[in-house]
Amino acid sequence: MPPASAIALRPCSAQAHPNIALIKYWGNRDEALRLPANGSISMNLAGLETRTSVTWDEKRVARGDAFNLNGSPVTGPGLERVSAFLDLVRKMAGFDFRADVVSVNNFPAGAGIASSASAFAALALAAAKAAGLDLAEADLSRLARRGSGSACRSVPGGFVEWAAGASDADSFAVSIAPPEGWPLVDIIAIVSEAHKSTGSTEGHALAATSPLQGARVADAPRRLDLCRDAILKRDFAALAEVTELDSALMHAVMMTSTPPLFYWHAPTLTVMQEIRLARAQGLAACCTVDAGPNVHVICEADAAEAAARLIADMPGVREVRRAQVGGPAHIESD
Ligand code: PMV
Repeated sequence: MPPASAIALRPCSAQAHPNIALIKYWGNRDEALRLPANGSISMNLAGLETRTSVTWDEKRVARGDAFNLNGSPVTGPGLERVSAFLDLVRKMAGFDFRADVVSVNNFPAGAGIASSASAFAALALAAAKAAGLDLAEADLSRLARRGSGSACRSVPGGFVEWAAGASDADSFAVSIAPPEGWPLVDIIAIVSEAHKSTGSTEGHALAATSPLQGARVADAPRRLDLCRDAILKRDFAALAEVTELDSALMHAVMMTSTPPLFYWHAPTLTVMQEIRLARAQGLAACCTVDAGPNVHVICEADAAEAAARLIADMPGVREVRRAQVGGPAHIESD
């Protein structure tokens, strides 16, 4: 590695999409390294994105990092999490410079879409590239994982699988099908815009307190096989069955943790029940719910219009958003 003084540090910006997990990650084997209890599969969400630019400041080593999100400076725990992540990049680059990080999401907070995945994927790409590091996709995915587990899945494009791995070295995500492999649509039923009371970092730490987590994790390889096969064969009935099973298993673990976590609101259940009924009548749509009350309704492209209309009329649904399958995180300029 060249000495830091020999690196021409230039601002760099990157863009990444959030993702929705079809097979969920819940619980870590190693909290510090964010090594997951089980593998997971997701699809990236096109049209929704985080753009992040990073500038390393080699002259003012003594100052702290600065982080601006959606036009406002971030301090406290938000800045500390970004700084701890930048420490990993400083260590890899072999320098001690501080950074200016400017990040913008094109989707509002509380829109039912977790922003930490796109945030840390974009930050990993921009911070590494701006530091003069030339990392392969797997190494960028490993790096993004350290900021937020699901962020490792926003680095590759399309449908993505994160193998749990045995260690830091082999716990990263790879693309299993490109966005055009299956033009699914995620219709997000927003039933609440309130911030979740328990974030996923605290939630992962509670997973092992549920008596159901062991069974959920032990069965994960079978569900991963079913989901991967369904994606590769474009078998919607199989995808719907395993996606809804996996989401229910994660929420069963959440609800039976100590203390218990209940993310569903009454309309969450209404949407899930109505979509189940509509599927029985032939609509190619199924539901999955993350660590919040909003419902992601995954549809085949030709069912999206009917599903969106159905959802918009359901009691308690405030807003409906749509996303197609998105591509990989990428550098925008250097
Ligand atoms: O990456 P985190 O720590 O925000 O965890 C994500 C957890 C879920 O969104 C609930 C599931 C998943 O696999 O994305």
